[in-house]
Amino acid sequence: MKVLIHKEKREVVDGREFIVSKARQYFVTDLSKDVHTLHGVISKSDLSKPSGSVIQSGTGKEFVLLDASFIDVYKRLRKLPQTIPLKDIGLIVGETGINSQSIIVDGGLGSGALASALAHIAKHVTSYEVRDDCLATAEENIKKLGLTNITIKKKSLYDGIDESDVDLITLDLPEPWKVIPHAAKSLKTGGFIISYSPSVPQVMDFVNELHKQDKLLYLKTVEIIERLWEIEGRRVRPKSTGIGHSGFIVFARKIKC
Ligand SMILES: C[S@@+](CC[C@H](N)C(=O)[O-])C[C@H]1O[C@@H](n2cnc3c(N)ncnc32)[C@H](O)[C@@H]1O
Repeated sequence: MKVLIHKEKREVVDGREFIVSKARQYFVTDLSKDVHTLHGVISKSDLSKPSGSVIQSGTGKEFVLLDASFIDVYKRLRKLPQTIPLKDIGLIVGETGINSQSIIVDGGLGSGALASALAHIAKHVTSYEVRDDCLATAEENIKKLGLTNITIKKKSLYDGIDESDVDLITLDLPEPWKVIPHAAKSLKTGGFIISYSPSVPQVMDFVNELHKQDKLLYLKTVEIIERLWEIEGRRVRPKSTGIGHSGFIVFARKIKC
């Protein structure tokens, strides 16, 4: 898979700056066909050139050709509603310190976004899911990403966790508090459990249940607010589009075996 990037081109006419060619990006999955862009056709013969090559479309516009990376593919996956955004995944990875040796249990799998992002870093991820449509979408996404270290289980996390000595458990399901007793057994001492929920009552019930478990230590609840900025010469200001809510992340840690 390849990415074609055309950078915006500007020209100054009579002291005023104009955009003469708008920025465009194309994600190419079929390398056996020419690519039709708004800036002309890119020949299929150019798609086999090395990453970083500058190639020209039929109308003489320049494109940079890149090999698609994990994140290029990830951003274009089919995502089901309520998929966790990257800003929240970033915090989970940072706060739990997962690495190439980490063993993770995740659920519900949904479209497999969180499981895949974690599997890109960790040794192994097992993800639980109960719905067939989600399983099919996630399997397709995991295949597109070429990940081979995810095990999918069609099973409810409320009924128990098969894995033991787990470094991190990530919960993104309607009643996460039902998993707490299973997580207390399944985590290794020092391991983390996080719960990602869109609404306040879910956070309340989860944290209240955590406090009943002497093996688990409640750490904190965080909401990440991401604000995009517009940079146009000296016109530098926050974008006027509203800041949306995604979810709250509750962090806890196993402190007793
Ligand atoms: C918000 S989605 C998860 C999104 C996922 N984290 C992602 O990144 O794509 C919640 C999922 O939990 C699943 N689910 C609900 N109850 C479950 C249970 N008891 N065990 C496992 N999965 C469950 C749902 O079918 C749904 O796919």
